[in-house]
Amino acid sequence: MYVNSQFARCMADALAAQEVYIVRKIIFATGNMGKLREVKQIMEGLPYEIISMKDAGLETEVDETGTSFEENSLLKAKAIAEKAKETEEYKDALVLADDSGFEVDYLNGEPGIYSARYMGTDTPYSIKNKSIIDRMQGVPELKRSARFVAAIACVFPDGKCEVVRDTFEGRVAYEAKGIYGFGYDPIMYVPEKGCNSGELLPEEKNKISHRGKALMKIRELLINAGYTE
Ligand code: IMP
Repeated sequence: MYVNSQFARCMADALAAQEVYIVRKIIFATGNMGKLREVKQIMEGLPYEIISMKDAGLETEVDETGTSFEENSLLKAKAIAEKAKETEEYKDALVLADDSGFEVDYLNGEPGIYSARYMGTDTPYSIKNKSIIDRMQGVPELKRSARFVAAIACVFPDGKCEVVRDTFEGRVAYEAKGIYGFGYDPIMYVPEKGCNSGELLPEEKNKISHRGKALMKIRELLINAGYTE
């Protein structure tokens, strides 16, 4: 009897210890390697393996037909989660998808949810950025407010969904600067840093960026839901 209960306790301890090392899978629904890199940096330290939908072989075309960042992120996450459910390897994976963009108040929120499609998907950002700077010609400092917005949707293995949102506030710069980041980073001036977002090192940007802060909310959410034990 004693031996049995001791054995049971040992097994329970071993299982509990083992659980700490279970690495769960997160599929991040993006084809953008810049974003994937950011997500990996921010989620570092959590027992998750982060896989792009491409690496998971779950690529699918999702029409971003939503009218908000939140709706679009949820459309993407749900579509990938449905695909993941059909596979043995990823049926228990958590799916994250983001939708983000650059909003310029003076341009009535443009390019907003159309940021990637602004002037055509294949148009280089040097041209898109120049167009925004040109449209802001003569606009005074106080009216140049702008921000990056990120919504991140999370679909849990049981089908439950959560969406979080955060912003990264700044102003449209007078000229493009910086070699870091991607997209509209070179043209957003970040007052608290005294430089453009494209001049911030990735670690610096992650701490204050829309996606960085939204991902921290996701991190909290996973911890609170017991998904990191
Ligand atoms: P999505 O892939 O549909 O979410 O489109 C996001 C688009 O918004 C990107 O292609 C960029 O144009 C822009 N964007 C979002 N986040 C950032 C950022 O951190 N820096 C620069 N541009 C961004």
